[in-house]
Amino acid sequence: MAHKADLLLDFGASLGEISPMIYGHFAEHIGGVYYDGLWVGEDSKVENIRGFRKALVDSFKKISPPVLRWPGGCFAETYDWRDGIGPRENQPERVNWWYSSDHRTESNQVGTHEFLDFCEMVGAEPYFAANMTSVSPLHIRNWVEYVNMPEGLTTLTRERARNGHSAPFNVKYWGIGNENWGGGGQMSPEMCMREYMRYTAVINSLDRGNLNFITCGANGHDVEWTRRILTEWAKTKYHEAPTWGMSVHYYCGTAGNPEDFTRDQWYELLFKADFMQRIVDDHRAAMDEFDPDRKIALVVDEWGCWHKDGTGPSKGYNLFEQQSSMRDAVVAAMTLNIFNNRCDVVKMANVAQLCNNLHSLYLAGGEHFVETPNYHVFDMFKTHQGGKHIAARVRADKMEKDSCRPLSMLSASASEKDGKVTLTLVNLSCDEEAEINLSCAGGAPPGKGTITVLCHQDLHAVNDFETPTRVTPEEKKIDLACSKTITLPKGAVASLILG
Ligand code: AHR
Repeated sequence: MAHKADLLLDFGASLGEISPMIYGHFAEHIGGVYYDGLWVGEDSKVENIRGFRKALVDSFKKISPPVLRWPGGCFAETYDWRDGIGPRENQPERVNWWYSSDHRTESNQVGTHEFLDFCEMVGAEPYFAANMTSVSPLHIRNWVEYVNMPEGLTTLTRERARNGHSAPFNVKYWGIGNENWGGGGQMSPEMCMREYMRYTAVINSLDRGNLNFITCGANGHDVEWTRRILTEWAKTKYHEAPTWGMSVHYYCGTAGNPEDFTRDQWYELLFKADFMQRIVDDHRAAMDEFDPDRKIALVVDEWGCWHKDGTGPSKGYNLFEQQSSMRDAVVAAMTLNIFNNRCDVVKMANVAQLCNNLHSLYLAGGEHFVETPNYHVFDMFKTHQGGKHIAARVRADKMEKDSCRPLSMLSASASEKDGKVTLTLVNLSCDEEAEINLSCAGGAPPGKGTITVLCHQDLHAVNDFETPTRVTPEEKKIDLACSKTITLPKGAVASLILG
């Protein structure tokens, strides 16, 4: 049985460039993200590059990560950047934000220099999330001075040189605050914006206008937060520091085990993932009331599936670690298609989190390392980065549920770059294969290319240390001049590169 769908690629209806930073990542100091995940230490038996797990560095590089957010998340709210600079053997061990959840301490082996070294290894732009809750604006200003000011200029920049980096790092993206409506100080939107203004005014005095500040946005669909924070923003006539972006965080999940879900839970999660579209549209509509020229970018700097933890290889030792099946890969692909199709609005997004945590691309421990199905999605979608968006109009079967928008059984997005067209597709049905009839307007993609399909007979399938390649994409040649029909297995993600 197959469900039939029509897909029209409208080359004349582009929304512009797909920001590469939509394909961003997030790696917080939490559970096993760093220690025994990304970081194994220079003396480890595990092959490493200056302390970072080599297999992960090599794999991550391949998907061209554009931007990486650090050090939190909530971790940022009690982070003192000075704990993470200087000789590693002298770093203080601290009780960190997550201690009450997992009783693990922070060794500070990965600090500013290590993190920025990792970014350089993999080619990602760093995005620092600064503490706006428990330190002063001066403390953060000093961090910016330490990382960004010219060589030899001040005591702090000379300290940077003594710690191994005389040239400035030029960190451009600075999130000021994280989830200030919650763990980040239980602030009202008005208080959050006043604090943000105070911090950014002070920090901006260092390097006027050259930093991209991101303010704390809403929790999920809390559009009232967005309106109230921007009402406060609009009251300030002379903005010392321009706001580059406003964040929003949205996680979707189900109560069940990520490896053991029912048909209903498959669709329940996909409905929740599809809600991202409303989050983006409704926040932008609220932002437009205050920022009609769209000078402030929408930044979805935490998103992903949040299931019951304890299902990853560490069996609960790594906080929030979960396995990822084809269902999570489908969520990743649907979400990236939503971002591509809203590229006029979403300028950065960061999937949470890179390793041994929520919706991770990697699971690792000791000698073991595995790429999850989510990794393959980012690999298959990477050619969208910086491409010119092509409108992808879908007509497909829909599923209805309560007050949700009907869930289309086909998700698609397309872009063109360097003479090649990338078309990414998701068959949301866990019951039927999809038969997709492709047509074009205002142009046509080159007929020949490749199609890469990520699927598995068993949609619960995961990659683990024992069978690391159970869910692996397969690539074959395609010639659309011969047939305009694309058939996808149930619950499959596909990427066509034409030209
Ligand atoms: O990603 C895990 C946590 O989720 C982050 O620390 C926090 O910002 C969010 O609530």
